[in-house]
Order: sequence, then C-alpha cells, then structure tokens
Amino acid sequence: MRTTATLLLVCAAALVVPPPTVFAGDLRADLIEKVHMYETATDRFAPVYPALAKQLVQDYGITTGVCVDVGGGTGQLAMEIAKITDLTCYSLDIDSNAVRLSGILVDEAGLTGRVVPVEGDAQNMPFKDGFADLVVSRGSIPFWPDRAQGIRDCYRILKPGGVAYIGGGFSRILDPAIRNPIAQWRADSTMSEGFKSPADLYEVAIKAGLPPDQLRQDNEPIAGWWLEIRKPADATRWYREWNATLQPWHEQIARQIVDRYGLAGKYGRVLEFGWGAGSLSIPLARLTNFTFVIAAKDASAAQVANEQAREAGFAGRIQAVACDPDHLLFDENTFDYVFGHAGPAVWAHPDKAMKEIARVLRPRGAGVVGNGCPLDCSKDSEMAFCKHAKKLREAPYAPKDGFKQCATRQTMLSWTKASGVDATIISPETIHNLWVEIRK
Ligand SMILES: C[S@@+](CC[C@H](N)C(=O)[O-])C[C@H]1O[C@@H](n2cnc3c(N)ncnc32)[C@H](O)[C@@H]1O
Repeated sequence: MRTTATLLLVCAAALVVPPPTVFAGDLRADLIEKVHMYETATDRFAPVYPALAKQLVQDYGITTGVCVDVGGGTGQLAMEIAKITDLTCYSLDIDSNAVRLSGILVDEAGLTGRVVPVEGDAQNMPFKDGFADLVVSRGSIPFWPDRAQGIRDCYRILKPGGVAYIGGGFSRILDPAIRNPIAQWRADSTMSEGFKSPADLYEVAIKAGLPPDQLRQDNEPIAGWWLEIRKPADATRWYREWNATLQPWHEQIARQIVDRYGLAGKYGRVLEFGWGAGSLSIPLARLTNFTFVIAAKDASAAQVANEQAREAGFAGRIQAVACDPDHLLFDENTFDYVFGHAGPAVWAHPDKAMKEIARVLRPRGAGVVGNGCPLDCSKDSEMAFCKHAKKLREAPYAPKDGFKQCATRQTMLSWTKASGVDATIISPETIHNLWVEIRK
C-alpha cells in the first residue's frame, strides 16, 4: 500500500516538474539557430580560439585579474583564456541571443563564474574605468558603427599596465597547415554589408586620440589585422619614492646650482629636464624667485611633480607636463636656465635632448644636466647615493622604459659632440657622477 502511494507521488511530481534539461535543450537549439556565428566558431574556426588564447598568454603574460572579450560572440575565446589562466573573463556582446547562448555553453564547460557573458555595446561598455588587465576583441570591430569610439572605450576600461589586442585573425602560433586555409577562406569570402576591413586600425586609433607610442599594428599572413595597445603602468609610487629617497642630494644639487650662477633672490624662467618628477624645482623654488616648467618623462612623473608642487605651496610657480625628450613642447629662446638630474641616464637619444636644451635656452642662458651624486660630494655621501639609486632603479615597479645607461665620460663626450652644442663636462674625474654644462 505504502509502495503504491510513493509511486503515485513520484509520478505526480514528474508531471508538475518537467526535467530542466528539456527546456534548456530547446532553448539551446533555438539560440543556435538564431546565432549564426556559433556554427563557424565551433566548426571552421574551432582551432583558432585555443591557439589565440595561448598566444595572448605567451605574448603578455597576463594570467590574473580581469579579461574582457569585446564582441565575444558565443564565448569561445573567453572560455579558452579562462581554461589556461586565472583570469575572470567577461564576454561582452551586443546580441542578446549570443549572450544567452554563451551562458549555456559556459555552464556546460564547467566555467560558470570564470566566464561571465554580458550584454553591451563595444562603444559604451558597462564597465568602470581601469576595469580590465587584458582586453581582447576578435572579428567584432568591423561591425562597430564608430570604430574610433569603440577603441576609445577599450582604452578607457584598460588598467594602467594592461594590454588590449583588438582586430581579427587566426593566431600567429596556429600550425600554418591548419591556419592558412582558414585565413584564405576568410580572405576569399564576401563581406557582409557594412563590414569595414580592420587593416587601418592604427590610423583609427590615432583618430580616436590614443597616444601613438602605446600602439602597434600586428598583422598576420593572408588575413589577420590586430591593433595592440599597451597602457603604461602607474609609476607614481616610484616617482614619489625617488623624490623622497634622494631629496638630500637633490637639495644639495639645487644649492650648488644657485651658488654657481648666483641665482639667490633672482627672477626668470627655468626648465627642469631630467628623470625624476620635479625633484630639483621645489628646492630651487625655495631658494630663488624663478618660475619652473618641468618636462616630465611620463604622465606619472608629471602628476607627482604637480601634486608635490601644490603641497609645497608652489602651484603658481611650478608646472609639469609630460614631454618627448627628442622634441620638447617649448619655443626656442624660452628659458634662462635648464637644469635636470638623471636625464642622460634615461634619454633614448641624449644628443637630441642636448640639442633641444640649446634650442629652448635664451641667448647667454645656461643648462646643467647630469647623473649621479652632486658636483661636489663626500665619498660617504656618494656611496650612499649609489646604493639608494641602484635599489630604486631595480624596483619591480620602476617606470618601464626607464633607466638605460650609466654613461662614461667618453660616451658623454660623444653625445655632446653629436649634438653640436657648446657643452663642457664640469664634474671632477674621480666622483661617481657626470655633469655637463651647456652654454648658449
Ligand atoms: C564575427 S562575430 C565574432 C565573435 C567572436 N569574437 C568570435 O571570434 O567568435 C562578431 C561579433 O561582434 C558582435 N558585435 C557587433 N557589433 C557589436 C557592438 N557594437 N558591440 C558589441 N558586440 C558587437 C556581434 O554580435 C558578433 O557576435
């Protein structure tokens, strides 16, 4: 009797609660029918996604944090990236059916929570600024109505230090025997209406206002065009440490400059042109009445210089701006003096930088730039300076593309000669430093 009742109950339950797989199966089939890219992605293009995921990890080494796949379709690339990294991957697409289908596929792949499908428009993504460590986008940009705006939004959501790889292609590292027929098929196929070839991505990014030195076009054979964007890391912490650690030496350099040119109490315009973030301008502002412009190495250096100038009460007299050392932003004959610490150690082309110093100096102006400890420095102070500077240079969060060389006197002389300016080495032979005076 009890067995019959139990059986009846089970049957009744089966009638009112249909197995979820029946519904999911219908929905899955229905969505597959609606999302045409699914068939290509899981058939002809299937080998592309694991290879592209591997290439991204090999090239950029970004394996933790957040990845956004823009126009990710049914999530194949995001899933492959999630499988070989610890990244949380957001697969964003404007097509709600593609997003719903990728939700089902992600669950089936056991990647729930690791890959998150999101509905959204590449040109205005629902992510905050600096959200992603890695932004990828394969085969979607040709369909964005305003490609420049889409690229700008990818840049916006990228973290400082992050990389974006946007375009279309089939992975450089996929076996050519597999890759080339796919790429050839793609090259031969007729493009849908509104499709814009991604061959001009660099130009589009420049039009979007992105900094040229952060961009690189990376093309594949037969078919495949990519734009690589590398957003510089935030180096403000390092510049603050540089200024704080070396402050006693910078103050000594400032006093020596004031004595050498008799600047105490005088007025005029000074350009600070070195590595740090305005480390000489603040002590010089205390000792003189000059106004200072700082040609900072990058945006982080300019930010720290401006913050510290404001904190010291010199916001009206010190102004920093990030500058290309080969092409300073200033007119010729603009400054009475140019001073800078560590510039020759970080400039890619010290001869060009010296030429720029002579160009922006007023006639009878003078510039002093150099590396190392102050002009006149005790042995103990010199050793302490070298120890601190080495530790700072080697810090893992030091600015990328920072320290380049500790020049010998011979190298310095070859630079001054190549620059064609009137320059003399003024530091003593024996000390661990190298200072050059440029006269106009
Ligand atoms: C050719 S498919 C590529 C899909 C996927 N990236 C892949 O490689 O399998 C292009 C995708 O871009 C999406 N898309 C087009 N315009 C978009 C936009 N403005 N914002 C976000 N996604 C978009 C489409 O819905 C489609 O899923």
